[in-house]
Amino acid sequence: MIRLSVDDQQMSEHCDLLERHRRVMPTWLNLYYEDPIELVSGKDCFVADAEGNEYIDFFGGILTTSIGYNVDEFVEAVRTQAGRMVHTSTLYLIRPMVELAERIAGLSGIPDAKVFFVSSGSEAVDTALMMCCTARRTNQVLALRNSYHGRSFAAVGVTGNRSWSPVSFGPLSVSWIHNGDSLRGVFAGLSGEELCHAAADDLREVMATTTAGDIACLIAEPIQGVGGFVVPPDGFLGALQEVLAERGILYVSDEVQTGWGRTGEHFWGYQAHGVRPDLLVFAKGLGNGLAIGGVVGRASIVDSFESNSISTFGGNPLAATGALATLDYIAAHNLQANAQAVGTRLRTQLAEGVAGLPMVADVRGKGLMIGVELVIPGTTRPDAGSAIAVLQAARDTGVLVGRGGLYGNVLRISPPMSVTPAVADDGARRVLSALRKVSGKQEGSN
Ligand SMILES: Cc1ncc(COP(=O)(O)O)c(C=O)c1O
Repeated sequence: MIRLSVDDQQMSEHCDLLERHRRVMPTWLNLYYEDPIELVSGKDCFVADAEGNEYIDFFGGILTTSIGYNVDEFVEAVRTQAGRMVHTSTLYLIRPMVELAERIAGLSGIPDAKVFFVSSGSEAVDTALMMCCTARRTNQVLALRNSYHGRSFAAVGVTGNRSWSPVSFGPLSVSWIHNGDSLRGVFAGLSGEELCHAAADDLREVMATTTAGDIACLIAEPIQGVGGFVVPPDGFLGALQEVLAERGILYVSDEVQTGWGRTGEHFWGYQAHGVRPDLLVFAKGLGNGLAIGGVVGRASIVDSFESNSISTFGGNPLAATGALATLDYIAAHNLQANAQAVGTRLRTQLAEGVAGLPMVADVRGKGLMIGVELVIPGTTRPDAGSAIAVLQAARDTGVLVGRGGLYGNVLRISPPMSVTPAVADDGARRVLSALRKVSGKQEGSN
């Protein structure tokens, strides 16, 4: 049941919180909606705000609430561990951390893998880059345009998106290759095979013209998340890795968004490309909201530091226990298969529903990563204004969706992987109604 109403007292408390937020938080920490909301509770795929309005959550805390809110098995595991001990530090043996490392090493598909835990995706990206640079004795790296890898200094350095890059300099020397976008840019309109060839040629040219040759690694997301769920053709990363392999250059797969079965067809995004990464970076969905991230990779690279290194919170008993409970739940309820089935159903409904809406240029994605790209009708010019309007209209109908893309014009739909067909259908109807409303207003103003 979705209720959408607010009384005066609630509204004044709400305004007060917003004012306090603005006074004490950085200006660049953006809030969604003209009238931002405070989410205070949730169950499965539903969340409720402080005024008691309920929403279907089609963004899952930015692809982080992987199994849903307030799931009994997860809550019980975390509660029990919190009652015993939250933190000890990695100076002592931590049983859940070792168990989790074994589990992730086994799942990674990387032979002889070792794991290091940290508290976020940025820290994990930073660690993976430092490992590659240490192992290969160079700070030259390759990254993709339109990528997002986080907010640490090194992670910003490999982020190919102006609106997420506060500084131009950093610890790495970065060369940029084109991403796998077939809608716009230099590869627009190419077939999958043509695009893979063109990307390999581009990589060769970039290495020959912009580097000194000794390159540590390439870091890439199998599907660009913040970049607007840009899905390269299957085999794209394989075509790149063939070129890298000629020179012993390492490949780091950033699976912060694509991991744990979210893409449906595979457990990791890299598996669609016929490649095996040397290092794989994970975070977000593993903890279902608890702060945990890490790197899993070939032992020779993970072990390459000759100094000490420590992450105080990395793999702490609470986060590791929550992560184990999350992985257990994903396996027990076969959420990868659910992501595939419900994701395909949702994408199909959205694609069919937007037929005849000229503001929608593309409905794309895999599993439960679905992007809806909005443009000025009749062109491929991005329309961020409409995306903001649809986000607001969707919220007004009771569904929360995300926004991304280099130009801020892509709706991002990524509910918890436990979303049921009925909730997905209901959410799709609401998103479509928001799209129609904004599209109707556009037509009215023409
Ligand atoms: C692909 C990718 N890598 C890294 C990060 C950084 O993760 P965090 O925000 O946990 O530092 C993100 C966050 O959105 C991401 O999408």
